[in-house]
Amino acid sequence: MSVPEYTDRKVVIPAELDLSRLKDKSVLITGGGSGLGLAYAEAFAQAGAFVTIVDFNKEAGEAAEKSLAPNAVFSQCDVREWDDLVAAFETALAKSPQHSVDVVITNAGIIGRDDMYTLDDPAGPPKKPDLRTVDVNLYGTLYTAKLALHYFRRSPVSAERDRCLIIKGSLAAYADQPGSPQYNVSKYGTRGLFRNLRRTLHRDDVRINFVAPWYVRTPILSDKVVEYLQGKGVKFATVPDCARAMLNIAADTSIHGRSIGIVPREEAPHGYMDLEHDDYEEGDFMKGWQETVLATAQSIVDLA
Ligand SMILES: NC(=O)c1ccc[n+]([C@@H]2O[C@H](COP(=O)([O-])OP(=O)(O)OC[C@H]3O[C@@H](n4cnc5c(N)ncnc54)[C@H](O)[C@@H]3O)[C@@H](O)[C@H]2O)c1
Repeated sequence: MSVPEYTDRKVVIPAELDLSRLKDKSVLITGGGSGLGLAYAEAFAQAGAFVTIVDFNKEAGEAAEKSLAPNAVFSQCDVREWDDLVAAFETALAKSPQHSVDVVITNAGIIGRDDMYTLDDPAGPPKKPDLRTVDVNLYGTLYTAKLALHYFRRSPVSAERDRCLIIKGSLAAYADQPGSPQYNVSKYGTRGLFRNLRRTLHRDDVRINFVAPWYVRTPILSDKVVEYLQGKGVKFATVPDCARAMLNIAADTSIHGRSIGIVPREEAPHGYMDLEHDDYEEGDFMKGWQETVLATAQSIVDLA
């Protein structure tokens, strides 16, 4: 399937989805054992796709594989470990009906106490921070994306085959989130990867899109956090809307280079929308700078 160069064409969310393209497609989802990743796995399996569930958590992954049989396989993997991830992609290739990798969702992620933020006693020695959140959310995404591009090319080629990389972000890739510098850094980083690759992946006929959920009730948010947010009147996006957005992006081959926000139903009829925050308006000085970078960046790399 030929992918056109990125243009800033807004995605219109349809009332009905045509999921027929997804039948027998091979979908690899990191963090597919719980929360949103599990909901994506269930939705793709229901649409007739074959899902490789990649997760750290053996118990959850095995339970998901069992409940989605025969449309799923579990590969235990820490996304920080390159060799684990290679084995997961090999599993997808070996076990999927067409021995392919067609859709990859870089979903695994964590949030937690962030000692980048905690200040050490200035009288004592500085403590080296634990950068696990960046390791999982950003480095894990870079590894997964790199392998997606490799395994898309290892899959059988045909004029009809669509290859789709979906980078999982968060609205924390757009908003300042005081107290969670690593989460903010990691999600801005994944958005940077998306914006970078959307300019070049058409050359390999690969689509790339970004998915940025607002708060959703999953195990990543403790009951205390949910209660606190509810007390502040914060509305939540929903798990089924996240899953529908993923299916929509994977099934509609015209969607390329866009960031889709998953939002409370009050904000959008299907609970998701094109965010329209990754292109510059006419008159914004950044528009000219962006055009200069686009015209010169590759030559700078070649000259370096
Ligand atoms: N729930 C939200 O409010 C929300 C909002 C925005 C973005 N997100 C993002 O969505 C993604 C999924 O989050 P969720 O809400 O489903 O959380 P979750 O905790 O339910 O699921 C995360 C999954 O990732 C797995 N995982 C964690 N570390 C891993 C590692 N090193 N290697 C492999 N697997 C690993 C976990 O075992 C778990 O199954 C994350 O990237 C998160 O940042 C969530």
